[in-house]
Amino acid sequence: MRPNRKTTIIVVVVGIVVLAAVITPIVYFAAKEGNADEQKEDDDDNGQGGGGGGEKPTPDRSGRIDCYPEARSSNITRTKEACEKRGCLFDSEADTNNSLGVVCFYPAEGGLGYSLTREEKTQQGFRLYLEASGRSPFGGDFRKPVLDVHLLSNNLIRFTLDDFYASPRRYRVPVEMHLPNLGADNPLYNFHVTNRSKLSFVITRNSTGKVIFDTGPGGLVLSDQFLQLTTRLPSADLYGLGEHSRRTFRRDFSKTHSWPAFSRDQPPGGDANLYGVHPFYTCVEDAHGNTHGVFLLNSNAQEYELSPGPMLTWRTIGGVLDFYVFLGPSPENVVQQYTQMIGRPMMPPYWSLGFQLCRYGYNNLTNMQRAVEQTKSYDIPQDVQYADIDHMNESKIFTIDQVNFAGLADYFDMLRAGGMRTIIILDPCIIVNETDYEPYEEMKKVKANIVWPSDFDIPANSSDEDGSMLGFVSLCFSLFISVQIL
Ligand SMILES: *[C@@H]1O[C@H](CO)[C@@H](O)[C@H](O)[C@H]1NC(C)=O
Ligand SMILES: *[C@@H]1O[C@H](CO)[C@@H](O)[C@H](O)[C@H]1NC(C)=O
Ligand SMILES: *[C@@H]1O[C@H](CO)[C@@H](O)[C@H](O)[C@H]1NC(C)=O
Ligand SMILES: *[C@@H]1O[C@H](CO)[C@@H](O)[C@H](O)[C@H]1NC(C)=O
Ligand SMILES: *[C@@H]1O[C@H](CO)[C@@H](O)[C@H](O)[C@H]1NC(C)=O
Ligand SMILES: *[C@@H]1O[C@H](CO)[C@@H](O)[C@H](O)[C@H]1NC(C)=O
Ligand SMILES: *[C@@H]1O[C@H](CO)[C@@H](O)[C@H](O)[C@H]1NC(C)=O
Ligand SMILES: *[C@@H]1O[C@H](CO)[C@@H](O)[C@H](O)[C@H]1NC(C)=O
Repeated sequence: MRPNRKTTIIVVVVGIVVLAAVITPIVYFAAKEGNADEQKEDDDDNGQGGGGGGEKPTPDRSGRIDCYPEARSSNITRTKEACEKRGCLFDSEADTNNSLGVVCFYPAEGGLGYSLTREEKTQQGFRLYLEASGRSPFGGDFRKPVLDVHLLSNNLIRFTLDDFYASPRRYRVPVEMHLPNLGADNPLYNFHVTNRSKLSFVITRNSTGKVIFDTGPGGLVLSDQFLQLTTRLPSADLYGLGEHSRRTFRRDFSKTHSWPAFSRDQPPGGDANLYGVHPFYTCVEDAHGNTHGVFLLNSNAQEYELSPGPMLTWRTIGGVLDFYVFLGPSPENVVQQYTQMIGRPMMPPYWSLGFQLCRYGYNNLTNMQRAVEQTKSYDIPQDVQYADIDHMNESKIFTIDQVNFAGLADYFDMLRAGGMRTIIILDPCIIVNETDYEPYEEMKKVKANIVWPSDFDIPANSSDEDGSMLGFVSLCFSLFISVQIL
């Protein structure tokens, strides 16, 4: 670790503004186009993106939400007919290479929308009953969309878009959140409905009046396998939305671009899905460092689309839209509030933050030793050396290939004696038809009973007499065990 590398989030600690007035958090009003002016001031570094269209004779192409997002990552051609069939508008002149070149987009007026038909108070806030006007692009529309707003605490507001009539209930991530039950007697936020006929709403920071979440740009879609929500952001100083392989911590809103979020075993490269998904961002709102965080609790395949405005579009193909907004107001406060809810991260050992060398495919110990020696010879610091699964004997867990990796244990002892750390990567494959294979004997002793998921593509009768999980995993690695029922 380089000690001089400091985190440079400068937070101006402002004396806490005591909110004098008794706050009535639920204020509905039909809004003016309000916040556009404020936003321009803040986005000076993003000026090329925002609403600069006014002076030119060309049509204003800002603020568009892509209605044909799949065309960006495939060779699908957007035709006018196909676009209009989705209830969207087509602009044949839009240059798809240009930052604002969204060819097929949701109409600002008319088109799909959700009108507010009824509202009622709930224990923690209120519920808005909605009715769709128009059809969503992909069918399977929610029959009775509802928006539940929960004022969970003074610095946490949650809103959920769900289908009231869905039976069985729509999928919700079965992970328990540590939700505060303090109630909100003096919230740092206000929730306003800004349009009741084509639902849009804003969340403002009460102390500054800054709009921090604004669904005004439209593009709300609530259907079985396509849910989408767009928010206009108070500033382009937005961090997060992992995992991704971008080179800066701050996200780029100078052009329209997107990346997917669906965990898979995929090394970094381009805009591919990666190992993990973390649908959370923090956004610094102003020069005083006021910051909020937004978390979408949804585990279906997702996509983030960033565009000038700055605007952010969330897409997901299932579940519900379950958003949590943390009001901070400092970045530290946001992270504290967020991790209080999802659980604190473990404190990693200091060395694990160091320089680590890992490779699948050393093939033998000699190659690994050469890599370590050469790293050292070029004065590249190294804190950790790994052995990936090619060190195993035919992928059997807790074995070492005694031909190609003979002496691995001694070598690792030597590295550790020199101050380095070592990590062994294992894929847990257990062979069952080999006598004296200790891991299997141990598993049977404790009557380990791991059951296959029912829809997994494996031979039907794949548990032993104890019910232990056995099976073919040769789909991934041909060397993995073949099973015999004992
Ligand atoms: C804070 O909230 C109260 C109650 O909703 C409202 O009257 C007041 O105008 C708000 N202040 C700001 C700065 O938005
Ligand atoms: C698009 O078409 C080109 C040329 O046929 C092809 O090389 C490329 O792989 C295609 N891309 C996708 C995402 O299908
Ligand atoms: C867009 O960019 C591609 C690749 O750089 C280029 O082949 C194409 O001609 C460009 N299209 C327009 C309309 O400029
Ligand atoms: C609300 O949305 C409708 C439909 O798009 C639009 O005609 C109307 O002007 C909007 N009202 C306000 C107050 O923005
Ligand atoms: C290790 O593998 C390399 C090829 O990757 C081979 O050339 C070399 O002979 C092997 N060394 C030993 C000791 O097996
Ligand atoms: C792998 O394990 C088997 C069974 O214990 C043993 O006979 C064989 O020699 C091992 N092979 C290697 C390369 O270590
Ligand atoms: C275990 O089963 C596999 C697959 O049937 C077979 O190839 C292997 O020879 C067996 N090993 C022993 C020790 O019986
Ligand atoms: C699995 O094996 C048991 C006995 O070993 C047998 O009774 C049962 O019918 C088998 N089930 C299937 C799906 O083959």
